[in-house]
Amino acid sequence: MYFETDPAALFAEEDKSAIPIHAVTADSLDSLDAKTLAWAKATGFAGKTGQQCLVPGEEGLAQVLFGLGSGKGEGKDFAHAKLARTLPSGTYGLGNGFENNPHARLAWAMGGYEFTRYSKGRTQTPVLANALSGQERIVAEGVFMARDLINIPANDMGPDALETAFRKLGDAHGAKVLSIVGDDLLTQNFPMVHAVGRACTIPPRVLDLRWGRADAPKLTLVGKGVTFDTGGLNIKPGNAMALMKKDMGGAANVMGLAHMVMASGLNVRLRLIVGAVENSIAGNAFRPGDILQTRKGITVEIGNTDAEGRLVLGDCLAWADEESPDLLLDMATLTGAARVALGPELAPFYTHDDGFAEALSHAAQKVNDPVWRMPLWAPYQSMLKSSVADVNHISTGGFAGSITAALFLDRFVEKADCWGHFDIYGWVPKEKPWATVGGEALAIRALFAGLSDRFSS
Ligand code: BES
Ligand code: MN
Ligand code: ZN
Repeated sequence: MYFETDPAALFAEEDKSAIPIHAVTADSLDSLDAKTLAWAKATGFAGKTGQQCLVPGEEGLAQVLFGLGSGKGEGKDFAHAKLARTLPSGTYGLGNGFENNPHARLAWAMGGYEFTRYSKGRTQTPVLANALSGQERIVAEGVFMARDLINIPANDMGPDALETAFRKLGDAHGAKVLSIVGDDLLTQNFPMVHAVGRACTIPPRVLDLRWGRADAPKLTLVGKGVTFDTGGLNIKPGNAMALMKKDMGGAANVMGLAHMVMASGLNVRLRLIVGAVENSIAGNAFRPGDILQTRKGITVEIGNTDAEGRLVLGDCLAWADEESPDLLLDMATLTGAARVALGPELAPFYTHDDGFAEALSHAAQKVNDPVWRMPLWAPYQSMLKSSVADVNHISTGGFAGSITAALFLDRFVEKADCWGHFDIYGWVPKEKPWATVGGEALAIRALFAGLSDRFSS
């Protein structure tokens, strides 16, 4: 397997003796048989959301009750996902109360994910005897891949290691992969990628993957692959730098999405581009006040070396745009402002295309992977004015940080039929039923659902 953590390990063959898990709402509690109800009550189980109750039988554990409270609310279909890490070792089966939950099995996979590259795993290893469907398995693999890539620390996930993972992804699906590394970025005209990444001893690079029939609709995905963000010369304070291994979260997410697209054989000509760099500090680092050339031909005044992601993406988007894709999507852990606006769970996205926004929002709801459209508010382009270059890459005044970053990117996209930009957080800061603290996939399940509707073969 070319991805590290395999969701298949959380599932077992169909098994008649599997211990059933029954979902119980506060209302359905009283319809349990008298013996079970007595046990539930005696052990303090009231069907509250997230409550679990192990019910004994003659030969050990007979059933599990899981509380769904009122049975309503955001993320309810994923509430039981945590059972995949809280139940004792054993083989379980979905019982009553999960009939109308289309995400019941996928939730188990998401909740059971565990990053074990550097430590021993959990000692409890419950498995579910309800197999994932083919599509669900592909989705879970994509999610796990994104989480793994983010969780691997920067000492083992530099630009070179990200390229290795990228090549493995391509090889597994028979795609064509190429990379442009180090000073070749200058001769091949990626000046901003080079400027951001050149201070790192591991050379910066642009990664490119092509897959699918040439005559299919062109889907191009672009990811920010900043494998560590020190802030550059505008160095981040320690607390702000602590999590910056996740700054390749955009790349990790588009790679996970690319896996879903290729594994399911969508009718697209896929292209995947990642700008893989570390934003380091050294004598040759780029500086505030520098004026950079760009692939697009416009000049950019550097206001702050910590706004590096949009520079990397600018060149990558310009390259992607040159072949006029039908759909161009980019994902990036681009701004702290996005997190301030929407928090870690709700993925902000930008597009000029109302149809795309609507279709995506619909798909997001369907698969429980929330997104929220943000405005490409044109008047704020004036915040990016520079007196010495065509554009400044940051706004002055600290207003609308996520919007102005998106507006900067907008300057590098011209020919794509439809463009969508995702300013994601890429991390779960506090345990959720469907995820523990760590790297996270955001919006790619929604995107995959939307893409599947649009491009199924
Ligand atoms: N990678 C960060 C953005 C980030 C920070 C995302 C924390 C998620 C959590 C990005 O490169 C950055 O540092 N952006 C600056 C831009 C500013 C200097 C204009 C930011 O958001 O503070
Ligand atoms: Mn930064
Ligand atoms: Zn960054």
